[in-house]
Amino acid sequence: MNVKQQLEACYIHVSEKISFQPKIALVLGSGLGAFADRIDVVETLDYADIPGFPVSTVEGHAGRFVFGYCEGVPVAVMQGRVHMYESYSPQEAVLPIRLLRLLGAEILFLTNAAGGIQPGMKAGEFMLITDQISSFVPSPLRGPNMNSVGVRFPDMSEIYSKRLNRIIRKIAVNADIPLKEGVYVQTPGPAYESPAEIRMFRLLGADAVGMSTAIEAIAARHCGMEICGISCISNLAAGISPHPLTHEEVKEAGDKAAPMFELLVRESIAEIGKSE
Ligand code: HPA
Repeated sequence: MNVKQQLEACYIHVSEKISFQPKIALVLGSGLGAFADRIDVVETLDYADIPGFPVSTVEGHAGRFVFGYCEGVPVAVMQGRVHMYESYSPQEAVLPIRLLRLLGAEILFLTNAAGGIQPGMKAGEFMLITDQISSFVPSPLRGPNMNSVGVRFPDMSEIYSKRLNRIIRKIAVNADIPLKEGVYVQTPGPAYESPAEIRMFRLLGADAVGMSTAIEAIAARHCGMEICGISCISNLAAGISPHPLTHEEVKEAGDKAAPMFELLVRESIAEIGKSE
């Protein structure tokens, strides 16, 4: 089965089971999955119950879709995502994003846990993603282009929507939530970076580093979605952090940041749902 056939098969299966039409798709990163428990749930679907769907193996990632209403806005929440380091191809890793688009989602709200690179950043802070560097991972658009999905050479000059970012900034100011801004760089993982790599990323203009989001954003732009993204800075990046990095630290930071994160995301979704 090629990527297109796999996507079509997943779509047929999911649309037979789920009648819900989301406006916003929300991807929850490491440690941030609890947000899905706060929405008015209509339907859920485990990734494992969708034949051919890539399933997350990472601890801290639940692995299911939650469909429902957040502040009255129809949302599809991905509680857990798949990563390339789990041995999925970049095309497989973005299949869920394309599927959510087929289900009707027009807006993609990405979240992740990331290492902080920007000087002055602290663990537990949030960063609004304004742009990204994906040059260290293969493109999810490699291979025959799916013309029905998007063009061969899609424009990436505004991956993260200025309109959505304006809304999120306003929400953060009103709720008194400190919000940094910056460029997200994706690495293949699963090893955390070396201090020399972090110095390189800083020179290249990156403010936070993670292992997931950039390829998802590329696939989402390709299929015409409007995107925003928030990183939870779970740790200072290697060489900046005074101690070795662990996944436990990343999950713990997510748990601690959860209440503020929830507020920021919920209010942003409410406002985005009202906009246009
Ligand atoms: N590096 C890469 N990915 C991450 C990090 C990090 O420091 N923290 C959370 N995800």
